[in-house]
Amino acid sequence: MSKLEQILEKKLQLIEEHGLWRQLTPLRFITPVRAVSETGREYLVFSSNNYLGLTHAPEVIAAAKAANDFGTGSTGSPLTTGRHFEGNILEKALAKFKHTESALIFNTGYMTNLGVIYGLVKKNDVIFSDELNHASIIDGCRICKATVKVYKHSDMNDLEALLQKDTTAGQRYIITDGVFSMDGDIAKLPELVKLAQKYEACLYVDDAHAVGVLGADGSGTAAYYGLQGQVDLQVGTLSKALASEGGYVAGKKVYIDYLINKSRPFIFSTAISPASMAAAKAALDLLIDKKELYLYKLRSNTKLMRNLLAKYKVNIIAGQTPIIPIMLGDAKITTTFAHKLEEQGILVSAIRPTTVPIGQSRLRLTVTAAHSEEEIRITAAAIGKIWQEIKEGSGK
Ligand SMILES: Cc1ncc(COP(=O)(O)O)c(C=O)c1O
Repeated sequence: MSKLEQILEKKLQLIEEHGLWRQLTPLRFITPVRAVSETGREYLVFSSNNYLGLTHAPEVIAAAKAANDFGTGSTGSPLTTGRHFEGNILEKALAKFKHTESALIFNTGYMTNLGVIYGLVKKNDVIFSDELNHASIIDGCRICKATVKVYKHSDMNDLEALLQKDTTAGQRYIITDGVFSMDGDIAKLPELVKLAQKYEACLYVDDAHAVGVLGADGSGTAAYYGLQGQVDLQVGTLSKALASEGGYVAGKKVYIDYLINKSRPFIFSTAISPASMAAAKAALDLLIDKKELYLYKLRSNTKLMRNLLAKYKVNIIAGQTPIIPIMLGDAKITTTFAHKLEEQGILVSAIRPTTVPIGQSRLRLTVTAAHSEEEIRITAAAIGKIWQEIKEGSGK
């Protein structure tokens, strides 16, 4: 074994000893919420970001199949010959939905944050970033050359104090998740808009978990607060409520044109397939046209699960989004909890450091529009029972 291999072995051993081992769980989804493992065991899934359950909607599958007739891959980067008609159709629909002039598709939500931050933000600029922003925002901040100032989570006094002290001659950016991916809480957009205006900062909101979830029309955080048109850049993903793959940024045309010309992650990567874009467009149409079936159903399911978990006195972070963190603190207890649910055929993700700070390990339970009332009740009861066992010290 080489020296490097020995070092890696040791590091892996430590990861395992601390209850932080990560491994893949290959699944095949037979419905939006039921999946089979390689051994053929069936699971009920309460950990996906398939919020509207549209991955299996006949309209979405049909759109992807039809687009496959134009080739399974895009075969090139978007500025060469990799841009298909489906991309333009989807961008126009996304811009309209997000109440912006224009939109631009990237390969993933992760790449969108990298591509927009790295493409736009320059050396003399300053980014003010919420401490709980998604890893892709953090990584975008790392690769651009700007100064990054991290403010305490949703603490507007801390943010304003940092803005006040800042003397940059460059551009200021305030960057936040719309719905925070691990806590499920909603950014304080009205205050952020005011601060952005007062300190002439560009306001950038990542709505990955807000589209299909928040707002009367399901278009995200700005709509939730009635602040459409007040956010300069809105990032989103096609991979969650929109049931596909890819990401996008929506904003004024000048931003989009600049990114097409200057964003290296956009320019130097093969465009996503026509099928992915067509599927996302079909999902967007369903979100807009069939709110009872999807958007409103997600909301009533979320309410039911949150109420049941509260009834069982499970320690969740209160809120209204379908991301429901069950706070356990200890990484090993969190892993044990997830295993106990798995034994009962229920999958819920154990989230541990480094995804969350040490001592804040949790189960990240997510509800979708596709869960039945019975599935929600069974799962809440199973969680309540394990929670009680752990509290009594017999479940460790
Ligand atoms: C807030 C946020 N932004 C961006 C992403 C990345 O999106 P994608 O999975 O499409 O790469 C995620 C994914 O979990 C996210 O939670």
